[in-house]
Amino acid sequence: MLFTPTRDDAADLDLLPLQPVDPAFRADVLRGLSQEEKAIPARWFYDMRGSQLFEAITQVPEYYPTRTETALLHAHAAAVARRTGTDATVVEFGSGSSIKTRILLEAMPRATYVPIDICGEFLNEACDGLRRLFPHLGIVPVEANFMDPVRLPVRRKGQAMLGFFPGSTIGNMTAAAAVDLLRSMRETLGANAHLLIGIDRVKDSGRLVAAYDDAGGVTALFNLNLLQRINRELHGTIPMGEFRHVARWNEGASRVEMHLEARRAIQFEVAGQAFHMSGGETIHTENCHKYRPGEIRLLLAASGWDVLEHWTDEQQDFSLVLARAEADRQTA
Ligand code: TRP
Repeated sequence: MLFTPTRDDAADLDLLPLQPVDPAFRADVLRGLSQEEKAIPARWFYDMRGSQLFEAITQVPEYYPTRTETALLHAHAAAVARRTGTDATVVEFGSGSSIKTRILLEAMPRATYVPIDICGEFLNEACDGLRRLFPHLGIVPVEANFMDPVRLPVRRKGQAMLGFFPGSTIGNMTAAAAVDLLRSMRETLGANAHLLIGIDRVKDSGRLVAAYDDAGGVTALFNLNLLQRINRELHGTIPMGEFRHVARWNEGASRVEMHLEARRAIQFEVAGQAFHMSGGETIHTENCHKYRPGEIRLLLAASGWDVLEHWTDEQQDFSLVLARAEADRQTA
């Protein structure tokens, strides 16, 4: 059981925590801030406010991936359903608002839906919305980090399985981590499974950076919310106003990087530990890797997935790929 202090206990403590400290969050932040190059894992963006801000990002004019992928799903959901059958179990890795999933579910009227998301509260809200829209849909939500091995609650033998991994979330990990995850999805989903995955493409770096640094400042709020969360949940004294959001294109690594940059030299504490940063020093918070078509094929092949369909929009901004678990076979 977690220790939750009462008012009386609080008299002996400096601060009354509003919620029990998540030891994994504390460990990741303390380790990340102690490194030579400061970095905090992106999973900690997604508390309730972060999940809401992320949904707002998907609506800003500069952020083309959501609109483009949504149009691709409308165009090709029926083709996906023809491949998988209309009664497949759809397992979504990092389901968020589940809004894109509706397009798939409309084409698969007898589907079962297994959304996996790290934010339980957000997950429950998304499921409530889906139940109203699809009263007969079986929904089995799983509150988990999809990067951890997941045991599916509903796997029946012979059941058609479709993994759904939209939003170019695969781009938020290194290629090595992406291969590990895609392989573990193949294990989770089993033989003959399909995977529908959205991957953002390399393009003009000006458009790429703008997508992660919108003029309205929503992405900046999303990035800075991480500092607020640290202050709130880990007794931090980080001076929020001294940080600015930075998005930059790293050509060599083929990725947009997000950082929180200290405007000047500062000191602060987190969970009783002191830190200092010099002016211009950054905390690296996210990577968004971009791929070329041939690299997408290689990435999937390296992870045991055969590409069946590779759809893109007219401007070739974004790829929607349907793949199938490669049959086990002996190769020389
Ligand atoms: N996976 C998406 C992308 O890389 C969404 C995303 C993840 C994102 N983290 C982000 C978008 C941070 C903006 C900011 O585009």
